[in-house]
Formats: sequence, C-alpha cells, structure tokens
Amino acid sequence: MCGIIGYAGSREPVGVVSEALSRLEYRGYDSSGVAFFDKKGSISVVRASGKLSRLVEALQGATGLPGAAIGHIRWATHGAPTEENAHPHRSGPIVLVHNGIIENERALRRELIGEGCVFSSETDTEVLAHRIHRAYREEGDLQAAVRKGLSGVEGSYALAVMCEESPGQLVAVRKGAPLILGEAEGEFFAASDIPAFLKWTRRVMPLPPEVLAILSPEGLSLCRLEDGQPVPAVFEEVPWDPVQAEKGHYRHFMEKEIFEGPRAIIDTLEGRLAEENSRVILPELLRLGPNPTEIVFVACGTSYHAGLLGRLMIESFSPISVRVEIASEFRYRPLRARKGAWVIGISQSGETADTLGALELARKEGYLTVGITNVGGSSITRETDATLLTRAGPEIGVASTKAFIAQVTLVWLLALYFGRRESPEVRESLAALVRSPARLEGFLGSVDSSAIERMARQVLDSRFVIFIGRGMDYPLAIEGALKLKEITYRPADGYPGGELKHGPIALVERGVLVVAPLADSSLRPKEMSNIREIEARGGTVLTIGPASPDPSDPSPSFPLPACQGWDGVFLASAVLQLLAYRAASLTGNDVDQPRNLAKSVTVE
Ligand code: AGP
Repeated sequence: MCGIIGYAGSREPVGVVSEALSRLEYRGYDSSGVAFFDKKGSISVVRASGKLSRLVEALQGATGLPGAAIGHIRWATHGAPTEENAHPHRSGPIVLVHNGIIENERALRRELIGEGCVFSSETDTEVLAHRIHRAYREEGDLQAAVRKGLSGVEGSYALAVMCEESPGQLVAVRKGAPLILGEAEGEFFAASDIPAFLKWTRRVMPLPPEVLAILSPEGLSLCRLEDGQPVPAVFEEVPWDPVQAEKGHYRHFMEKEIFEGPRAIIDTLEGRLAEENSRVILPELLRLGPNPTEIVFVACGTSYHAGLLGRLMIESFSPISVRVEIASEFRYRPLRARKGAWVIGISQSGETADTLGALELARKEGYLTVGITNVGGSSITRETDATLLTRAGPEIGVASTKAFIAQVTLVWLLALYFGRRESPEVRESLAALVRSPARLEGFLGSVDSSAIERMARQVLDSRFVIFIGRGMDYPLAIEGALKLKEITYRPADGYPGGELKHGPIALVERGVLVVAPLADSSLRPKEMSNIREIEARGGTVLTIGPASPDPSDPSPSFPLPACQGWDGVFLASAVLQLLAYRAASLTGNDVDQPRNLAKSVTVE
C-alpha cells in the first residue's frame, strides 16, 4: 500500500507535493520521490530510499515551475525498497506514480522487452510507464495514451501521470486502489487519502473507478477510461467535526477500522523486515534466548481465533508444536507444557483478566511469557518477559477488526521467524505477506457493496446461521460467527467442517444459512463435500473464496482473487467483517457499542 499525490495549480509545486507526502507517510515508508517541471521546462525526478526525510534532504530546497507535479511514498510490493525501484518512474516523456498491484505484470513486461524496452527497475509500475509511453508515441495525446496504455492491464492501480510535452497537465485514474480528488481556487489535487490536501481544501470527490481525471491549473474534466465519454464532477465539502474527523466518511468506527486493515498490516510489519524485505527480525524476542520447545497461545474471543491461525502457520514452517488455549479454561488447570515452552498471551487491549490470569499461572510455573497486544503500556506488557506490539492503532469499535488483521500479521511473522530462511516456501510466504497490504487495499477498494448487502439480508432472513471451515477456514468460520452474533445479536455458531456429521448437521434444514470461508485451498475438496451435504438437506450455503481448481465445483457466492500465500485469510476476514457490519447496520443496532459487551473485559 503506497501513497500518491498529484498537484496541478499555481503554487510552487515541490513544496506542496512534499508536504502532502508527509501526510501520507503512514501508507508506506521505504522510499519516496517527486517529479516536477524545472526551470528549463523539463521534468526533474528526485527519489530517495528510506524515510521521507531522506527525500527532503535530496531535494535540498529544489523548486518547480507552477503547473503539475506528482509525488509518491512507497511500501514495496514488487522489487526491493531501493532508490532504483522508488517512484516516480519514467519512460521517455511520460512520468508517473502508482499505488496498487499489477497482477499480469510479468506477461506485460515480457511483451515490452520483446519490443526492445529497457527496464531500469524491478517494479510493476515501470511496465505502466512504458505502455503509456508506447501509446503516447501512437496517439500524441496524454489522455488518449493513458486510456490506451491501460487496456489489458489487470490488477489494482491508482495513477498520476505527467508528460514532458504537456506541461501543466496531469492525468489521474484508479481501479481498486483509492484516489480522492480535491478542488480549490485555481488548483486541483489527486491523492490516495484526504489528509494529503486537507490543508488547502475540504472540497473532495472520490474518483470513481476507471474514470480519468484530467487536471490543470485552468480546470478539471473527467471521462470514462473505456470510451472517453465525459463524466460529471461532483465535489462535496467534507464535514469535519472532531468525532467525524475521527470517523472520516464512515458511519461507524467499525467500518472505518475494517478499511484500515491494510494500514494495520504495514504498521505491524514496520521494523520487522530486514535485508530488503527478505528476512524477519523480532528483536523483542532476543532476550528470551533460544527458540521455544513448544508454544502455548492463551487468549479469549477474537484473539483466540488469531492464535488458532498462528498454530497452523507456525507448525507449517517449524518443528515447534503449538497449543492454543482459551485463557479462562487454561488458567484453572495444571500447565503441562514442555520445559523451555513459551506461553504467549494474545490480547488487543492487553487488559483481559482471563488472559492476564493465564500468563500469571505460566510465570508462577517458571515458563517464559510473551504478550502480543495492540496497546503499549497495557498490563500485559508489564507482566510478560517480552512484548510484541500489533500496531493497528486505537481500535474504537468493540468488535475487533483491524486488530485481528494485525494479530494475524504478527503470528504470520512468528511463523516466518521460526521457519528456515533458506526454504523456498518461507521466502514465498514472506513475499506474499509483504504484498498483502496492497492486495487487501485493492480488494477492499473493489468490494461489491451490493453483494455484501444481499448476503447481509440473507443472514437476517435466516432462522439460524452456521459458519463452517477446515484448516485455516475453521478459525475464520468461528471468527465470522462471533462477529455476527456480537453485533447483530442473532444466533450463529461455527464448527470445523468435519464436525458437522457428528451432530450439528441435524440443525440443517430449509431456512438455515451456512457461511463457508474457502481461503485455505489445502482442504477445498473436503469443504466442498460438506457444502454438498448441507445443500442436500435443504440448507442454503454462502461460500467466500477464490475459484476452485476443480472446474466442476460451483463458483463461490462471494469471489476472492486467487490467494497468494496466506493472504486469503486477510481477504476472507474482510468479507466476514463487512458481512457482520452490514447486517448489524441493517438491524439498527449500535454497531460500535453492542449491548452487554465492553472493549476490554477486565473482569473474570
Ligand atoms: C472481539 O470482536 C470481541 N469483542 C472479543 O471477543 C475480544 O476479542 C475478547 O474480549 C478479547 O479481548 P482482548 O483481545 O482485548 O484480550
């Protein structure tokens, strides 16, 4: 997930773009760059790896001609976080910045190399620069070149494009990744998020997908990417009272926090990837000495579900055996763990009494303890031998969403940390984790909200809702059930798919809805047979997953893109969170503060 800014106006553009980037720094921080028209009327590109402060040093107070300028702050997905891979990228007179992931970049790159293109970076973004440049040579017009250059491109993108032969003009376009337009007197902005230009204007317009915005100090026009047909520009004044500023354009904190999932991943990964994102480092664990002989996760609720995913991940890559215990049960039993085991408490609040009680038992029995929490300075950080912080930011909604995504990020990091670095599977998994914020953001940016609404209404019209899953899909199933019941107050339950025949299938009849996440491809055939058993008994099934490798299997009710590594866990979680959120919104419940619940359960 990166941050882009485009500016067209009469101010000195380098200062505007640099300041806008400082407000997007949360979106990435491994390199950055700007492009602007210099005094000779050429486009100057200045880039730097590392934090934004390195770019400011490299600019050394450079100034640009009034007109157009673009900027980028990067979270590397394709290509290491180096200056060569930093944006903006150039091909001939075309210079652009990009947020998103081009899924078919390999094929497009091969085609361009076959035509004699010489690449200077490993990025998918440079593919776009060459394609638009090729189209510009044919069309001679920037807007037409962008439209032509993007045909056949698959994946997500938010772009701001300049051309040395069209000073003062800027073209912006998006698909999947976010892009917001800002309008002020004689100047226009296109940015990944509103805070980038809020200093200069509060008149905003989310750019619709696959619509081109052509910006210049003289004005702005919009047209469809597909056929160039004009599209009306509709700006609105964002109302920013303090609470609304907190919620942004969302109705509830929970909804906002679902969409902050990608940022929670990035922030949780910060400082934990080394050697150009090829190695996981967890310095917080070094004081504990050698790796544990066993891991015991102790947690409650959603955090317990993150622990179940952590077991599957860690045991995939290392010989360490992992147990996952519900803290309120664990703390009243003798702790029969191996000598040298670590007891790891997972707790968003860091204050859950049962989890703290379980850790206290472990400490008394002489085990090393670790706290995974979202709240620095919370009790769990003081009562354990080491702390691993998830960095989801304050989570206001009682129903945990972005904190769960951050917890899964951390247990995924643990699996890679304990895994063998030289193993190809570990390396591939790490690359998938690094790409996951951009993939999750691109996915969230293109989620069909009407499909979510339809599923939510199906849930509310059902007498009972069962969630089932196997492998990674089992923790997702019980997390989906918890999300639904805690904010809609409707009965719902979750089971391992293999357990259906041992009793729960007796519940299945017409009017019963079954929701099946299918993010874990390893047991898909078994999950599909569960689904057929349910349908044979009159149940209705909603599946959430990528297309099945078996062409005879029906298409998923809610399709996911092909998963990379375990990132399907993030994508399916987002759908389950949006499903629960939408259903609860339709009931009129207080989504952020559901009845009987508290954000932090400090009582036993
Ligand atoms: C999350 O949606 C639930 N509200 C709840 O189960 C929560 O996960 C549980 O109370 C544990 O809280 P903690 O992570 O702060 O320890």
